[in-house]
Amino acid sequence: MLSHIVYLSDSTNFINWSLIKDILLCSDENNKNKNVTGILFGHGINFLQVLEGDKIIIKNLYEHIAKDERHENIILLDFCPITERKFSGWSMKGFNFNNLPKEQQQHILNKYCPASEYFYLPTEKKSCLAFIDELTQL
Ligand SMILES: Cc1cc2nc3c(=O)[nH]c(=O)nc-3n(C[C@H](O)[C@H](O)[C@H](O)COP(=O)(O)O)c2cc1C
Repeated sequence: MLSHIVYLSDSTNFINWSLIKDILLCSDENNKNKNVTGILFGHGINFLQVLEGDKIIIKNLYEHIAKDERHENIILLDFCPITERKFSGWSMKGFNFNNLPKEQQQHILNKYCPASEYFYLPTEKKSCLAFIDELTQL
């Protein structure tokens, strides 16, 4: 059954684009073989990942990823059936807030952190899912 998993975690090291690229490099072939799609968003020390695919396959992959020492404090926000993939073109699409165009950064900042000049990933499920929808537009 087509499902998605959404989780947040804390990186054990400060996240830069090279860390995200390393993860994408080792995810690409594995995810393609498993017909898994999704995104990995990193900012500061926080990861937000969406895994889309067969329910059992993404559950097993999530449990495998959860053992990775590059992150900790994993919070599972959502694991449920979906009718269609949001990121069907991507075995895993990487995002780093600082790499987004300035207007996109400002738009996200205004919408999700209106009272702050710094961006913090939303931690509440509803806001996270809305934020993920925002990423489908980029
Ligand atoms: C935040 C994060 C997200 C990851 N996402 C994936 C992923 O989508 N697919 C994947 O195969 N590995 C992913 N990995 C890497 C796995 O944890 C693991 O290193 C990789 O699958 C290789 O596993 P192996 O050494 O047992 O072959 C991720 C790691 C981290 C820290």
